[in-house]
Amino acid sequence: MRPQPIPLTLLGIETSCDETAAAVVRRETDGCVTVLSSVVATQFEAHKPFGGVVPEIAARAHVERIDTVIAEAMAKADTGWDDLDGVAATAGPGLVGGVMVGLSAGKAIALARGLPLVVVNHLEGHAVSARLGAPVAYPFLLLLVSGGHCQILEVAGVGRCRRLGSTIDDAAGEAFDKIAKTLGLPYPGGPALEKLARGGDPSRYPLPRALLGREGADFSFSGLKTAAARIADTLTDDDQRRDLAAAVQAAIARQLADRCERTMAAFADAHPGEGLRFVVAGGVAANGEVRRVLSGLAATHGFDFFAPPLAYCTDNAAMIALAGAERLAEGLASGLDAVARPRWPLDEAAALANPTHIPGRKGAKA
Ligand code: KG4
Ligand code: ZN
Repeated sequence: MRPQPIPLTLLGIETSCDETAAAVVRRETDGCVTVLSSVVATQFEAHKPFGGVVPEIAARAHVERIDTVIAEAMAKADTGWDDLDGVAATAGPGLVGGVMVGLSAGKAIALARGLPLVVVNHLEGHAVSARLGAPVAYPFLLLLVSGGHCQILEVAGVGRCRRLGSTIDDAAGEAFDKIAKTLGLPYPGGPALEKLARGGDPSRYPLPRALLGREGADFSFSGLKTAAARIADTLTDDDQRRDLAAAVQAAIARQLADRCERTMAAFADAHPGEGLRFVVAGGVAANGEVRRVLSGLAATHGFDFFAPPLAYCTDNAAMIALAGAERLAEGLASGLDAVARPRWPLDEAAALANPTHIPGRKGAKA
């Protein structure tokens, strides 16, 4: 398909986990972005009793809400179907029952309205999410930290990512969630743990410094999780819980910074004389301590620091609409036979070439 004229207005649809989301985004000729609407229906309450996301409950909730969420996004944006240049829908990675709901809705709209469909990798959505707040030129170094993913990537352009490191066990958000659970906090644990940590003393409980100073840029959070759970079992008052939460948050931020520092040096060597940009994205990028530590690190190493506006750190459809617009501007529309993919690495070539470097018991989530 030939590149589309820009500016472009796209409807984005996101249903890969526990948020049913739709958004309308306009991308101008100069790359400036306006979010005309962004609607996110969370399913926190439905999953709360189970302490985590239950795939069948998520899929059913997406089916129940998708129509109204899309209608609300279109109404809030004051956009008619004829004003759209395309429809973008997440096609993975994620819980496949949910992904199928959003992707089917996107296909139906594309077919009924004669619009191009663009299927989007959820992680590519996170990768472009900082652009919803400010222009960020390519290439940039990206730390993607969410509930399902923890990786560092060099992003050279639309769909052109090279993975430099990833977690060998849990994702950073998963670590936040699991440790929060041992502290008796509700799901999702990350924001609850950040709230509890406020005013806490991060030095009270020494925690393991996994992989710190080691070669490479991989992450590991399992030792921290076990150590924190052991300490949590011994706590008797709220001051202790607050201090442990502060120690955990600081330990996660410190590990993220240590691994990013290594890749910053290599990135700067590979791009001499160029502007250096560092982006943190994904749900954990909403964490104030993580942002503080990483923005300081970026400044020390001469990188401009970017993070998405808080509303676009966790899952949303504005980032999917924008990733779709960037693809459409390059003529990268998809066929209506596109399939939902539970696993879909951003750096697919590298994942296939080196399957041993695939983290997690069940293989690469990302
Ligand atoms: O990007 P996201 O919404 O979903 C995935 O693609 O996984 O990320 C959700 C994750 C959860 O693990 C949640 O606990 C974490 O991001 N999170 C946070 C904060 N807000 C969300 N972790 C730490 N501090 C926060 N403020
Ligand atoms: Zn996400």
